[in-house]
Amino acid sequence: MIQDNTRVAAVRERYKAAGQDHVFTFWDELSERERESFLLQLESFDPVALNITYAQATAFSKNTVIFADLSPLDPSEVQSTLTATSEEKDEWYTLGMKAIANNQAAVILLAGGQGTRLGSMLPKGCYPDIGLPSHKTLFQIQAERIFKLQELARMDRAKRSGQSLDSVPPVVVPWCIMTSGSTRHQAEVFLREQDYFGLSADNIIIFEQGVIPCFDKEGKFLLDQKNTIATSPNGNGGLYWALRREGVLDELAKRGVRYAHCYSVDNILIKIGDPIGIGHALETGADVTAKAMPKTRATEPLGMICRLGGKIKVVEYSEMDPGLAALIDDRTGESVYRTGYICNQICSLDLLQKISGILQNKGQDTLPYHPALKRIPHVDLRTGLFVHPEKPNGVKLELFIFDVFPLAERFACLEVERSREFSPMKNATGLDSPSTCRRDLERLHIRWIGEAGGHVEGKAIEQIGPRLSYAGEGLEWVKGKTIRAGALESRDDALFIKH
Ligand code: UTP
Repeated sequence: MIQDNTRVAAVRERYKAAGQDHVFTFWDELSERERESFLLQLESFDPVALNITYAQATAFSKNTVIFADLSPLDPSEVQSTLTATSEEKDEWYTLGMKAIANNQAAVILLAGGQGTRLGSMLPKGCYPDIGLPSHKTLFQIQAERIFKLQELARMDRAKRSGQSLDSVPPVVVPWCIMTSGSTRHQAEVFLREQDYFGLSADNIIIFEQGVIPCFDKEGKFLLDQKNTIATSPNGNGGLYWALRREGVLDELAKRGVRYAHCYSVDNILIKIGDPIGIGHALETGADVTAKAMPKTRATEPLGMICRLGGKIKVVEYSEMDPGLAALIDDRTGESVYRTGYICNQICSLDLLQKISGILQNKGQDTLPYHPALKRIPHVDLRTGLFVHPEKPNGVKLELFIFDVFPLAERFACLEVERSREFSPMKNATGLDSPSTCRRDLERLHIRWIGEAGGHVEGKAIEQIGPRLSYAGEGLEWVKGKTIRAGALESRDDALFIKH
């Protein structure tokens, strides 16, 4: 316990040797209990190793030499759902649906981010103010899409096997939700209180990623309280380590899962467990299939999928050479580095196991940490007061999910249509905000109705509940009809005003 002075001295010595002993500034003011919890946290970190991580991460971001070896993907490496023939798409869909129906697909939600740009106190999945007519949150939309996908796959299996639907066992697409200290509790309580939006709790696996200390600009740990080092989630690349440590990979392997669709929580148009993407992975034998789309402008905040020394490399927008990002191909008039990464990928379970095994043996730091300059609230060492800086004052380090791509033996890139699959909620207002998400969902659903031969009256918001349609299918009944805007959860909600 705390009375053990040798233990305290040993910890102090380690932090002193690393030049981080300022963390003990308030030690004398702490109660025994506060000291004990602080010691536990201090012992969980290796300050010398963290200094090295900080130094490498900040040096890495300044290093522009690698850009000399960078090249865009060759167009032949990119397939697109926009240019694929309907036969190709049908084949991918059939393959994917078959795998889903055989319970070989899972979905992994990346929901550990702090959503600082959105500025909500709640995890993004529970964000209440998207303003949809149904008042749904992102978690609800996603849960309902999984529900519908399971139903579609079961129907598909019944059809293929010639069995009645009743004799086909339920299909399960496990929903693995990666949270962090910042989001876990609220996400867990929210989902439980909503009874998992109709999904079975047995098939929802909530797990937690790791954290890493926050640094000031000189590489010193910041304090969140007088007895706590400020920490932040260690980036969405913390996934691979967490999947193994939290037993998720074992669980998925036990269930016979072969492919996992990993996606970002904030994309309102996400096609969760997309059969076309999974079928594409099966057909190409890819262990990673990254969905992508052309960037709309050089400065669009999307990573760029490129090649570096022959290997696949995603360069985060904040780390890209601005000159290269702005290069235009004279022949096409498009950006040379056009292939935007949208944090939406299908990974084979074999690859996830391989990567997490490598990280377990060699340490999570095998992947590079990326620095981000942020405003980090902290305790001022001179005054002991908690301060909320107005300008960026420190550095958060993050692992990126795409930094394992060079380990893939076979990488595939599938371009998809933005208006059908991508609209992220990053900011509180303006671009990529709740209002653009609402607009894009509305436009897509109006389009689905148009494609099914129907018409929407007026400009008011339209929303088709995921249980009614996963991706525009099953809307034949709107043909020749005009629908008054609103939230359609079932056919009964539709008010036909003209026939
Ligand atoms: P972003 O990089 O957009 O981060 O994450 P964010 O936390 O949502 O927003 P900002 O940058 O703080 O404003 C892309 C995806 O990766 C997840 C996010 O939840 C989001 O789904 N993520 C990010 C994690 O799961 N863990 C992390 O540590 C960071």
